[in-house]
Amino acid sequence: MIKKIFFIIFSFFFLITSLFAEEKMLLKKQNWSFEGVFGRYDNSTLQRGLQVYQEVCSACHGMKRLRFRELNDLGFTNDQIEQYAKTFEILDGPNELGEMFMRPGEPSDTFVSPYKNKEEAKATFNGAYPPDLSLLTKTMKNGPDYIYSLLTGYEENSPQDFELTDGLYYNPYHDGKVIAMPPPLYDNVIEYIDGTNASLHQLSFDIVHFLNWAAEPTLQERKSLGLKVLLFLIVLTLLLYVTMKEIWSWIEK
Ligand code: HEC
Repeated sequence: MIKKIFFIIFSFFFLITSLFAEEKMLLKKQNWSFEGVFGRYDNSTLQRGLQVYQEVCSACHGMKRLRFRELNDLGFTNDQIEQYAKTFEILDGPNELGEMFMRPGEPSDTFVSPYKNKEEAKATFNGAYPPDLSLLTKTMKNGPDYIYSLLTGYEENSPQDFELTDGLYYNPYHDGKVIAMPPPLYDNVIEYIDGTNASLHQLSFDIVHFLNWAAEPTLQERKSLGLKVLLFLIVLTLLLYVTMKEIWSWIEK
């Protein structure tokens, strides 16, 4: 009897979930080197990701939590970072006259947003807002796979029963299947400095790798500390076990 009830409840749940599953797009799961206990970042992937951000995404998205000097992690020298920071114009001030002024960037500055404020950004995109990218891979559900799927998921021809208004693009991975961001990436949209083939997959893969590093630069240290703690606990357990055996064998005699 109980078995039957379980069976009925189980089939009911299965039916319901399969009904809803059809509505959801499955994400294109990628093999990220930063996932898992041995999670690691890869410097050349990160450097390519920075290039994609700089040459494409930074036209619309800021990264206000990332400081130029943190690019040290990607294998750049302090000199290179200083030169790179100088190529940016930073709004500073006020000076003695109470005026704001522009100056070249310094390593301690953060990446600037292309818009003066949220309102200006929204006005540009009919009310849609290009979010700051600093923490997105962490704050969005399945961040890395979602952003990868979104970037590679644009479809030129929307289904016939789908009306698109001006300034909106069809993308089945976005809520409501339309998004105000024009497709930012396509094959060879930029030319990689290191000569890698800039396919849509590669560009999307590299930028997500870079964004995940920006959101969690200390991931490697955290994971290797975790491993050390685990190893320590295993050794401790073995030691305690051996000690316990010793003591009991002595008492049992
Ligand atoms: C031409 C401007 C523009 C460029 C270039 C651009 N974006 Fe966007 N992006 C937007 C706008 C506008 C939105 C908000 C879309 C909306 O809410 O419909 C957005 C939203 C997003 C979102 C959030 C999606 C969501 O589900 O809320 C992500 C992630 C994103 N962009 C990543 C990127 C990346 C990565 C790049 C560079 C490869 C990039 N964007 C380049 C304008 C841009």
